[in-house]
Amino acid sequence: MSDNKVQIFDTTLRDGEQVPGCKLNTEQKLIIAEQLDFLGVDIIEAGFPVSSPGDFKSVEEISKIVKNATVCGLTRSVENDIKVAAEALKYAKKARIHTGIGTSDSHIKHKFKSNKEAIIERAVKAVSYAKSFVEDVEFYAEDAGRTDNEYLARVCEAVIKAGATVLNIPDTTGYCLPHEYGAKIKYLKENVKGIEKAILSCHCHNDLGLATANSIEGVINGARQIECTINGIGERAGNTALEEVVMILKQHPYLNLDTGIKTEMLYGISQLVSDSMGIYTQPNKAIVGANAFAHSSGIHQDGVIKNRETYEIIDPKDVGVTESAIVLTARSGRAALAYRAKNIGYELTKLQLDEIYTNFLDFADNKKEVDDNDIHQIIENSKVYKEITSAS
Ligand code: KIV
Ligand code: ZN
Repeated sequence: MSDNKVQIFDTTLRDGEQVPGCKLNTEQKLIIAEQLDFLGVDIIEAGFPVSSPGDFKSVEEISKIVKNATVCGLTRSVENDIKVAAEALKYAKKARIHTGIGTSDSHIKHKFKSNKEAIIERAVKAVSYAKSFVEDVEFYAEDAGRTDNEYLARVCEAVIKAGATVLNIPDTTGYCLPHEYGAKIKYLKENVKGIEKAILSCHCHNDLGLATANSIEGVINGARQIECTINGIGERAGNTALEEVVMILKQHPYLNLDTGIKTEMLYGISQLVSDSMGIYTQPNKAIVGANAFAHSSGIHQDGVIKNRETYEIIDPKDVGVTESAIVLTARSGRAALAYRAKNIGYELTKLQLDEIYTNFLDFADNKKEVDDNDIHQIIENSKVYKEITSAS
């Protein structure tokens, strides 16, 4: 693998599916997994096999159909979880077991009522056991975001020795600031013996709206895998949004980090996940929201009509959106009205446009958005209508 390749680990079907009320059935998961495979993700976390017979079946069925990506199953540091995950993954062309345990003081004290040494022992045992089934074992240090770096480095060192190939450093509670998360990854890169044998992975939650920024800081500081979900769905405020990190790396080529994702599929897969889960995507969602390429103020519309790049940093076609939208509202200008009128067949002179624009503003003040039918009506009710020629 080249040094600048960032692996995309999609967890839409595991962490993403933990959204209350958004459970998917196996058939829906298979459709999404197939699309993720086409999209070019490197790893599909298909579920948590021991959690229910339905999840076991989904992981097993996904393992049968995925052609390129590694299929991964989540476990706790519990022997039976690991055995069941290995069984569910047995048909996968490439299988990964993702095991781990909480490492922050809070998790050690309150969740496990244990101590730091005993946690390292459990982590090592889990990785060694997982290794008896598959070569590719990822270890997660849950709540790594709030784990002190020195102890985290000791945990990482011990699980690498036990055979872990990927070290997941989750900011489980979405607490870290980007520079803190980046510094954590840098610290591990510089202080864990044997780190060159493993890939560091960012798994960031969005409780403070920082999941994407933290993941990017992570890869800038040496991580080479990002765990993310389509549309950023997931528990509470969600996970890192796949489409965001992929487009950030694509639009900033000087970072020299590449994901290999087929970005033209992003909008389609976003719609698929949103429809299958019944989760509406906020209109202002970066990259895939309905307004991500829509312009409604006159100043912006005038710029975009002259040259798209004045107000767009991404070509909508690059993410599978056919074109930028010029939305007509009472804030729109003459250029936008002329542009939209031309699209539906009216070539307006300056004088005609002056009259129609006045009528348009009266109309738009009473309606949130002016559509093509409204434009026809405004033009046809104007005094200058008979003089207007067709644009075609
Ligand atoms: O957020 C988290 O810590 C997780 C782990 C189970 C990987 O999802
Ligand atoms: Zn998570």
